[in-house]
Amino acid sequence: MDIRKRMDELINLINKYNDAYYQKNESLISDLAFDQLLSELQKLEQENPLFALNDSPTQRVGGTITKQFKSVNHRFPMLSLGNTYNETDLKDFDSRVKKALGDEKYEYICELKFDGVALSFWYENGKLIKGITRGDGIRGDDITNNVKTIKSIPHTIVDENLPVEFELRGEGFMPNHIFEQINLERSLSGEALLANPRNSASGTFKMQDSAIVAQRNLDCYIYAYLGYDNPFQTHEESLIKLFNLGFPISQTWEKCADIESVLAYVEKWRLKRNDLPLNTDGIVIKINDYGQQERLGFTAKSPRWAISFKYPSEIAKTEILSISYQVGRTGNITPVANLNPVYLAGTMIKRASIHNANEMTRLDLHEGDMVFIEKGGEIIPKITGVDMSMRNPQKPIFVFPTNCPDCNSELERVEGEANHYCMNDSFCPTQIKGKIEHFIQRKALNIENLGVETIDLLFEKSIIKDVGDLYKLSTLDFIGLDGFQSKSIQNILSSIEKSKTVPFRKVLFGLGIRHVGATIAEKLVIEFKSINNLREASYEELIAVPEIGDRIALSIISFFGKKDNIDLITRLEQSKVQLSEEILELEQESKSLEGKSFVISGVFQNFDRDGLRDKIILNGGKVVSSISSKLDYLIAGDNMGPSKLEKANQLLIKIITEEEFLNLL
Ligand code: IVH
Repeated sequence: MDIRKRMDELINLINKYNDAYYQKNESLISDLAFDQLLSELQKLEQENPLFALNDSPTQRVGGTITKQFKSVNHRFPMLSLGNTYNETDLKDFDSRVKKALGDEKYEYICELKFDGVALSFWYENGKLIKGITRGDGIRGDDITNNVKTIKSIPHTIVDENLPVEFELRGEGFMPNHIFEQINLERSLSGEALLANPRNSASGTFKMQDSAIVAQRNLDCYIYAYLGYDNPFQTHEESLIKLFNLGFPISQTWEKCADIESVLAYVEKWRLKRNDLPLNTDGIVIKINDYGQQERLGFTAKSPRWAISFKYPSEIAKTEILSISYQVGRTGNITPVANLNPVYLAGTMIKRASIHNANEMTRLDLHEGDMVFIEKGGEIIPKITGVDMSMRNPQKPIFVFPTNCPDCNSELERVEGEANHYCMNDSFCPTQIKGKIEHFIQRKALNIENLGVETIDLLFEKSIIKDVGDLYKLSTLDFIGLDGFQSKSIQNILSSIEKSKTVPFRKVLFGLGIRHVGATIAEKLVIEFKSINNLREASYEELIAVPEIGDRIALSIISFFGKKDNIDLITRLEQSKVQLSEEILELEQESKSLEGKSFVISGVFQNFDRDGLRDKIILNGGKVVSSISSKLDYLIAGDNMGPSKLEKANQLLIKIITEEEFLNLL
């Protein structure tokens, strides 16, 4: 790719995320992903200095300043910290420190990284005279009146040893219980809820009316002393002294003699930090001795004497209230845990997926259990374990149902699959509605003006019972239904009419045959050209098509073996929906996976399995169903089968995560 184009693209993205974060208090991307973009840009700028822009986001500390408050120049710039995400990064940091300090002995202070708003406090003659936000790191907003509402921050101190002028830095935050209380009140009065404690703190500090700020009970932890004539030798001394003077210093810090003890601190707080009154997203490691800090100095953006470590994913613990069983469009049953709501990585979590019956058995979930929930790539949270120490032995185990929660027909487990299925695909209401929604989506028949609610309504009123009935709809069917004007009815009918020109490959995908994703549908159309040919294809003919294996072939045969489906196809044919097409070749996205074979196992964040299979094929790769020594990669999702993992390990097959797969592309 054109380097300059990529750099422009990165700058635009980073500016967009920075703007959302600093101006609108919205995090559109994880810290890790953001740092990756920034370091990619930094690297490209180093390698191509001619293309580097003066106002590149790499040249800024972050953020800009808001308008309503008086802005103030910081006496010392408010820098950010470099991030690390694993043990190796931390050890690398330690090696850099060791190298820079030569033979000197050194110690670290480890602290938690509080997730709030960075604040600067100026003291003069023992009085708090200013409170300033970080702003762009060089200039911030003067929010003194708001900062003075923090009850734990002394407005006056008496101490002869402290210089006339000094500055403190800390993190302002909204304690979680305050946040929850405010949201409870807001929900009772029907107001919009605050998104998360960090945004709430940041929004509150920027309010114009300090009286309202005071009601919000903001708090703060101080984590640094700064001044021209520093009376302390070490950071530790300053923390102890400030604590004794009544400043809010979180007593979670520890002195660590070496990187091994730092790693122990990281472990110690991995789970325990969830019991604190505020969110923390990692730890901060600082060189203790101020002289050494000075010698190590700064890069343009961050100190060389400190670094942060970010925990990979947030874990919270909460009570499991019940399990619901959701019916998917192909009849697959997914257990979903209903939880006592908790905050996790900034959002309120009420439900978590348990994937399937195997996973329920593995977790051995009992009623009333306290479960750990985790956000992998920050998308759908999942239950990772049970706190056995809190199990009530009287409570019964959750049992996977034997019948469909919707239509009550008996569930079946397909040989070799982890899922249970409701086989009543022609009459189970949830399945039918799901199938219609699948059929109308953009990737399929693209029936734009028909929404999920309309489908639900038409189905509940028995006006439609499958996708074939869509083509029988007329204005009369909408008479007496609430919310439809003649214009909207016309729009619906004309987009249904338009869908009759959608090519067969999309119609075939829209039929929702189990395991037939968009790409497989296209392959089938290349090979068989019409629905009638496909219907008549034998098992042998099907599996002779590249990429069509046993599972897909059997699923196609079973689809055409059902009278209802044949009936549906006849009606679609009469309605003039496209059921044949001549395509010669699959449109490829790239050849980046050419010659490589993949086995897919487990559940993924960004794709369903058909989607992942499509992605591989579209980029020239091949999907196979079993692991052999010829296999190139096993893509391991959550809950992958242990036997697959063992076999792959035995044969020394490369096992990659979803993220690593995306990098291959
Ligand atoms: S020390 C030179 N200590 O993390 C920066 N920062 O990326 C020195 N933060 O916005 C910062 N907890 O507000 C330090 N215990 C802690 C911290 C902490 C949270 C925030 C800080 C800043 C960011 C640095």
